[in-house]
Amino acid sequence: MTVEWRGKPVWIVNRTPEMIERTEALEVDRLADPDSSVPQQPAYIEGYMRSIKPEIGVLVGICTHLGCSPLFKPEPDAEGVGTTNWPGGFFCPCHGSRFDLAGRVFTNVPAPTNLVVPPYRFDSDEIIVVGEDKETA
Ligand code: FES
Repeated sequence: MTVEWRGKPVWIVNRTPEMIERTEALEVDRLADPDSSVPQQPAYIEGYMRSIKPEIGVLVGICTHLGCSPLFKPEPDAEGVGTTNWPGGFFCPCHGSRFDLAGRVFTNVPAPTNLVVPPYRFDSDEIIVVGEDKETA
């Protein structure tokens, strides 16, 4: 689902165990910043899924190249993503940037950094508050 935060689209992505496995199995040399060294996420976001709960992704849906909105292409080897051995993720049709299901950018694409993870927290198992976290609540 897509919600809006500060005028930007924010994707809430339900990631299945199989999607998480595919993301974990991705060869890190295919990614430009596999460990999220560039601060594109709050400090409390850790791990390869870049989220509080691995099964729930929260990502700003704006390409870090020039701001287009990438397409959700979760299925392996989806068509129209311009590559083979696709593990599922997000594809930006404007200039061909690719991101995995955690929003980590692939190498050799125009986008320089991973997708942004906004501040967020869980109010309950079913309610996510975007724009607030433990520190600001
Ligand atoms: S805006 Fe996404 S690749 Fe250029």
